[in-house]
Formats: sequence, structure tokens, C-alpha cells
Amino acid sequence: MNNPLQLSMVNFSKGAYVIVEGKQKADYFYILKTGKVRISKEVEVVEEEGGNTLGPGDFFGVVSTMSSHSHIETAQATSDISVIAVHRDQYGLLIEKNTPVAMKIIQGFSRRMRYLDEALASITLKSTAGEDARHLFNVAEYYARQNQYNLAYYAYYQFLKYCQADSNVDLAKERMAKIKPYAKAVYLDTNNEEFTRTYPKDTMVFSESQPGQELYIIQKGSVKITKIANDNENLLAVLKPGDIFGEMSLLENKPRSASAIAYDDAVLLAVNQANFERMVTSQPQIITRLTQILAERIWFIYKQLANTQLTDSLGRLYDALLIQIEKNRLPIRSGEAYTFDFGAKELINIVGLPSSDGNAVLRKLFENKKIKLVDNKIHVTDLEEIEKQAKYFRKMEKIERARRQSSMRK
Ligand code: CMP
Repeated sequence: MNNPLQLSMVNFSKGAYVIVEGKQKADYFYILKTGKVRISKEVEVVEEEGGNTLGPGDFFGVVSTMSSHSHIETAQATSDISVIAVHRDQYGLLIEKNTPVAMKIIQGFSRRMRYLDEALASITLKSTAGEDARHLFNVAEYYARQNQYNLAYYAYYQFLKYCQADSNVDLAKERMAKIKPYAKAVYLDTNNEEFTRTYPKDTMVFSESQPGQELYIIQKGSVKITKIANDNENLLAVLKPGDIFGEMSLLENKPRSASAIAYDDAVLLAVNQANFERMVTSQPQIITRLTQILAERIWFIYKQLANTQLTDSLGRLYDALLIQIEKNRLPIRSGEAYTFDFGAKELINIVGLPSSDGNAVLRKLFENKKIKLVDNKIHVTDLEEIEKQAKYFRKMEKIERARRQSSMRK
């Protein structure tokens, strides 16, 4: 059936709210034709690149609409405006006719991801790894200390490859020779011809800070995305079959922003630039999928950024659990049990609490009889309880913020 692309033009008067933050299920995003729109968030943590005022040609509402989550921002017309409303389902058609526009959207998303990732890292980890390949040495040293020799060997190898003149070269060689008998590192140098690759559990696909020319599509197993900072491994995500990662280096020609490690035995499809370009024209649905994935990650980072603004540490843990529930789109019903795919220490890492505070706040969390550890993973016997607690802490924070603002005004 021929399904023509029909886009509707909508007018709003000055002062009208086009989208409202928190509104469930965003279905439309907008392309501004004429006039001006102001974007705002309840909790502004980072300044947006390019500012908060949009003009003709700008898009808004794309992150929430393409990730099918609630709106993360409010858009208000600051003059009379006309916009083109695009339903989520029309995105595929829109880009099929116009892949350069789609590439622009995902490249823009990728840049925004990098910017937000760095903002989040500087708040939660109090540091950013940067793009310097010498950071590969820190990654290797961290994993060597943890006796994770597969990962350490891989990172030392890349360090020697990209930092031949560094003062740590001899040390790296010495360490590599020592751990070599225990290290299983696959695909140390990627062979561009090989499309399907198998990574045994706990081996590295790539390390943060190394150059990257490929993206990967997970066929089987799972992959964790991590960052080393302050002598800690920080878990950014656990990815599953169908997920895509490694696209940021490919799209922006920059070093890897994080490491990818096989969490289980994993089978991956490796896609290089040439194959990617071929896929973009022959299979535009891959671009739709990539847009959705990036939109979901950005949505998630905004939620994590808002989490950093909660003053109560226990509240931050509940809020982080609720964000995970929303991210995984779990129906929240009373008495519904769920096991998260991470444990207590990882939860502390996700919210970026120092481990000294971490233990005390974890004790408080586990005082709640509906939360326990099962096989080292966090298990809740009632999802509604998490929602109730997180909403309570969010509400208290809102009241406290309003109080602070009004006392500042006095
Ligand atoms: P790239 O920078 O090429 O290598 C690391 C990859 O991890 C990156 O591309 C993304 O695909 C992925 N990534 C980076 N940050 C996050 C995040 N916060 N959540 C999920 N995946 C991420």
C-alpha cells in the first residue's frame, strides 16, 4: 500500500504551551516553521548547547517522541508560531525520502549525548576521561589491579599501539608480559573484513579513549558500557540483543567515549563506515532504530542528571531504581516483583555516590523489606513500592526547592 507522508501544519498563539514536561507518552515532535519557542525543564542541570530559544528550522520534542517516553521538557511559544507536527510513525517515511536530514538528526543526537555524558560524568564522577589516548593506561592499570587480566591486557595493548612515546611504555610492556599467560583478549586489532564476531564473557570489544571506526549490533548475549574514573568502574548501561553501540565514534570521528565489555558470551555484527553508508540507503529502518536508541539514551541521561539534584542520598537510590523501571518500560503494578540487572555496588556507582556514603545509604535502602539482594542483583518484591518512595522524595525535593527559592527572593 502506498502510504504518503502527510505532515500537518499547526499554529499556536504567543504564550501557548506546545509540549509540557512529564506529560505521559509523547507522540508528536515538531519542526518550527516560523516564530520562536522557549524550552525549559523543571530541573535545569546543564545549559543546552545553542541556548534555550529555538527559531525556524529547529526541532523539539524529538527525544521523548522517538524514545516513546514522557516529555522531558516544556516548550512554550514566545511569539505566534507555526510548526509542522510529525507523528512518531511518520519518522521512517520522513527519513526514507531524506537520509541527509536523518543523518543530521542522529549526528546532532550523538553530539548531545557526548555533551550530556560529560556533564553527568563531571557531576557524578567529578572528572571526565577526555579524549586523550593516554587514559588507556589508567584503564589497563585499573583492570590489572582488579585481576581482570583479559581487560587489562587489551587496554595495555591499545595503549602501546597509540602512545608509543609515552613515559609509561616500558611499564606497560612489563605488566603485559606478566599477565599474558592469564589473559584472553580477542580481536586486539580489528580486521575490517570480519562481519560477525564472537566475544567470550569478560573480554573487551573496545576500550574508552581508543580510536574507533565501527559500530556494533548485538546479535546474542549482552554487553556492558563502562567508564573508569577515580579508580572506579562506572556502569553506564547493559545492552541486549538488537541494541547498537559504538556509533558515536563512527559518526563523529572521535575516540571511544566509554568501554564495551562482553557481559555474557556475545555475538556482534561489526559495521564499518562503508557498510554503514550502504545500510543507510538500503535499509533506512536502521536509521530509525538508531534514532530511537540515541533518543532513549538521551532521555535516560536527562533523568540521571535530574537525579543528581536530589539532596537525600536514599531518595537518589529510589529515584535511580524508578528511572530504570521507566527505562525498561515495566508496568508498575502492586505486588509485581522484579530483579534488576545490577547489584548494590553498581547502584551506588550509577548515582555516583562516594563508597563511604554508599554503604550507609545501602543499609537504609535494605531496611525496606521489599528490597533485597538475590544472586548479587537487586530484587524488589513490589514495583509500586519503588514508585511510591521515589515520588515521595521527588515531591519533598520540589517543596524544598520552592522554599529555597522563596527565601532567596526575600
Ligand atoms: P562510542 O563513543 O563510539 O563508544 C562507546 C559507546 O558507548 C558509545 O559510542 C555509545 O554507543 C555507548 N554509550 C556512551 N555513553 C552511553 C550511555 N550513557 N548509555 C549507553 N550507551 C552509551
